[in-house]
Amino acid sequence: MSERILEKLESWTWSAGVVGLGYVGLPLVVTMARAGIDAAGFDVKPEVVGALSSGRSHIDDVTDEDLTEVAAHTRFTSRIEDLSGRDVLFICVPTPLAVGKQPDVSFIEKAARSIASVLRPGHLVILESTTYPGTTDDMLRPLLESSGLALDRDFLLAYSPERVDPGNAAFRTANIPRVVGGASPRSTEAAALVYRRFVEKVHPVSSARAAEMSKLLENTFRWVNIALVNELASVARAIGVDIWEVIEAAATKPFGYMPFSPGPGVGGHCIPLDPFYLQWAARVTGEGTRFIELAEWINSRMPQVVVGRVQEALNDHGKALRGSRVLVLGVAYKPNVRDFRESPALECIRNLTHWGADVSYADPHVPELRENGIDLRSKPVAPETFDAADVVLVLCDHDAVDYQAVVARAPLVVDTRNALGRRGLKGVHVRSL
Ligand SMILES: NC(=O)c1ccc[n+]([C@@H]2O[C@H](COP(=O)([O-])OP(=O)(O)OC[C@H]3O[C@@H](n4cnc5c(N)ncnc54)[C@H](O)[C@@H]3O)[C@@H](O)[C@H]2O)c1
Repeated sequence: MSERILEKLESWTWSAGVVGLGYVGLPLVVTMARAGIDAAGFDVKPEVVGALSSGRSHIDDVTDEDLTEVAAHTRFTSRIEDLSGRDVLFICVPTPLAVGKQPDVSFIEKAARSIASVLRPGHLVILESTTYPGTTDDMLRPLLESSGLALDRDFLLAYSPERVDPGNAAFRTANIPRVVGGASPRSTEAAALVYRRFVEKVHPVSSARAAEMSKLLENTFRWVNIALVNELASVARAIGVDIWEVIEAAATKPFGYMPFSPGPGVGGHCIPLDPFYLQWAARVTGEGTRFIELAEWINSRMPQVVVGRVQEALNDHGKALRGSRVLVLGVAYKPNVRDFRESPALECIRNLTHWGADVSYADPHVPELRENGIDLRSKPVAPETFDAADVVLVLCDHDAVDYQAVVARAPLVVDTRNALGRRGLKGVHVRSL
């Protein structure tokens, strides 16, 4: 049977089904459809399926026009049975952390059970969710085989980590190189064939475990380096130099250095979570991950550092944090997107509120902020809003903000992202991290 799967994939006549239509799954559907592959998307949220079926996207990187363009090759469904006739099934569901920063792979488990219910001889299943090494071999394979079908004899199974970077116009699903590792050599071969059809570069590795760990290495590398530069931001401040100037200078070295930026913390669904998948996997083997622990200690205290900076700045202006109007400018976890999952802005807002500040926010991409005790609506991103605050706290550097107006109208600015400095805007009332 696995021979027949490979023949089908080589003939380029295969069709796809994607389980989970979020930041990863939806761009995947659109990219495949653009390459002429018939792609069906399945999601457990009826509102997501409803909106997509009527041509409305809920993801920054996919526009309504994109959905119209690929409509002939796509369909969206709330029934897993509709994926049964597809040849290649992708799993793109969330992998959050459970209590105690343990991996929560329950979404993968549920998705696998759904797929097992419609699995048929000839299927290739590919997991794209970020997860700990061993998930594909030790969890996904037995769940799929509970259908009575067997790996290689009936179906193939592989892992390929999604590396999409929401908001990045230069690198999209089609031109970000793909790592693929199968649960068997045939599976690796099959998955490589699949991605070669719609991705520019494919890099096969010897196992699913190696592919799983490669993704965790990438994101742990960022997590640790962000922590290093966050620590050095405090050191630079104590020494009396501008950390941004130092980073810019170091970045002129054409080899052996890569710039990272300090900030109010680390957000999003990947970088603050993935290192803990690696940490857990290391612990299971009895190995330690001290870099990850140290980086967590530094990164997770950044919101407190930010509150300290706001407090100091207000103090210099003869004001207490308690009762002061603090306008948080930008609450998304990164520039030019609406995603605020794990955004450090949430922790900053909670801390500022705890200390008695009157907190509001303005974000051109996030009209409402509702999460764990926070229930706020964005103020207009306008000069009057900057005027009305005692201090404007820049936590995310969106392009759509008029920073000239910020520097001209806000009585005091604490800029944690160098949003003003980067644009050559200065003022005695502007403080940095
Ligand atoms: N967001 C990113 O930038 C990014 C980048 C690279 C990798 N990843 C990884 O990709 C995975 C998906 O992340 P995301 O950001 O797309 O998540 P998301 O929350 O945006 O989307 C996941 C979708 O899956 C759906 N879903 C959940 N359980 C399901 C099930 N059993 N069956 C069908 N649908 C189900 C949800 O309703 C949701 O629409 C995660 O493992 C993440 O770590 C994310």
